[in-house]
Amino acid sequence: MKFDRMLIEKESPEEYGYQKIKHNLSESSVKDINIDDLHVNLKNFLLCYGPHKGKKELRELIAEEYENFSPEHVLVTNGAAEALFIVALSLLETGDHVVIEHPNYPSNYRVPKFIGCKIVPLELRLENKFEVDLNELENLVTRKTKFVSLTNPNNPTGSVISEKTLKEIIRIVESRDCYLVSDETYHDLTFNNQLPHAASLSSKAISISSLSKAYGAPGIRIGHIAVRDNALIESFLALKEHINICNSVVDEEIAIALLENKNKIMKNVKNHVKTNFGILKDWLKVQKGLEYVEPKGGVVCFPRIKNDVQLKLQAFYEVLLEKYSTMVGRGRWFDMDDKYFRIGYGWPSKESLKRGLENITRALEEVKNAD
Ligand SMILES: Cc1ncc(COP(=O)(O)O)c(C=O)c1O
Repeated sequence: MKFDRMLIEKESPEEYGYQKIKHNLSESSVKDINIDDLHVNLKNFLLCYGPHKGKKELRELIAEEYENFSPEHVLVTNGAAEALFIVALSLLETGDHVVIEHPNYPSNYRVPKFIGCKIVPLELRLENKFEVDLNELENLVTRKTKFVSLTNPNNPTGSVISEKTLKEIIRIVESRDCYLVSDETYHDLTFNNQLPHAASLSSKAISISSLSKAYGAPGIRIGHIAVRDNALIESFLALKEHINICNSVVDEEIAIALLENKNKIMKNVKNHVKTNFGILKDWLKVQKGLEYVEPKGGVVCFPRIKNDVQLKLQAFYEVLLEKYSTMVGRGRWFDMDDKYFRIGYGWPSKESLKRGLENITRALEEVKNAD
C-alpha cells in the first residue's frame, strides 16, 4: 500500500511555519489551549505503558457523552486521524464498495482509496446548502456497501446533519446491513442544540472524535472510536496494538484534566466563537464576488469565488499569504476547485479575524483582471 501526503497537511500552517503567518484563518479548530490552564499534576508520574484501550478514567469520561454506553465501548486513539485509519483498515478490503461524503477531511476517503476500495462520493453541493441529499444517498447505498462515511459537522463546509436526517441515514445503513462511520471531530462546536452522537443511536454506527478541534488540544493526540459492539472494538484494538500498542500516558492524563474542566473551557470557547461568527457574517454579507452558505457548526466556512469574477487564482493565494501574511485553506486541500476556500474563524482573535478578512477582500481586488 503506497501513501502520498495530503495537501491539507503538507501545506498546513504548522508545516509552513506559524511564525510566518500573521492572520491565521486556515485552522478548523479553536485556538490551542495552554497546559497551564489545566492544572495537570505530573509529579512522580510513571512513564509506563498504559492500558491498551486507554485509561479507564478517560474512557469513562468519554462514555458519559454517549447514551447507554460503557467504557468498554470506547477505544482511545492517537487523534481522530488514527481512528479513521483503524476503522478503514479493519473494515475494508480491496474492491469494497463505500459511500463517502465529499468534500471532507481527506483521510476519510484517501485511506479507503489506498486500500483499493470503490469509492462512491456523496457530494455536498453549495447549490444544495452543502446538505446531504437523502434520496441520493438511498440510491447510492447498495447491499454491497461496507460503510457510509460522513463528517458531522462537516469540514470544510460547516454544514450540520440534523437529528432527523441522521436517524434517516441510520435507517438506510441498517436496512442495507452496513455501517455508518460518523466523524464527529467537530461535534461540540454546534451553535444551537447539541447533536446526538451517531453511535448513541445504533450499534451499526461508529462515532469518531478527538480533543483537537473544539478544545484546541491537537498536540496531545487524543481521539477515540465509540461503538456499541464489543467484537468490533476488539478488532480495532488488535490493529491499534500493531500501530502503537497504547496512547501516550502523559497525553491521557492531560486529556482527563481537560475533560474534567470541559464545561468551563467550552463556555469560553463558545463565547469567542459567537463573537467571531458575527464578524464573519458581517464581512460575508458585503462580499459581492463570493457565494457562500452560512455554516451551522464547526468554526469553518467554505465560500466560492463567483464564476463571473475574473481573477488569477494562483496570484490570489500568493498575494494573500506573501503580501498580507494571511492564510486560508485552499479548495485543493479538499480535492475541490481552488475557487473555494476555507475560512477558519474560530482560531484567530477577533482583531486578527477582522484584519485577515479585510486582507482577503484586498487580495481578491488586487488580482482581478490580472490575466
Ligand atoms: C473531520 C476531521 N477528522 C479528523 C481529523 C484529524 O484530526 P485529529 O487527528 O487531530 O483529531 C481532522 C483534522 O483536521 C478533521 O478535520
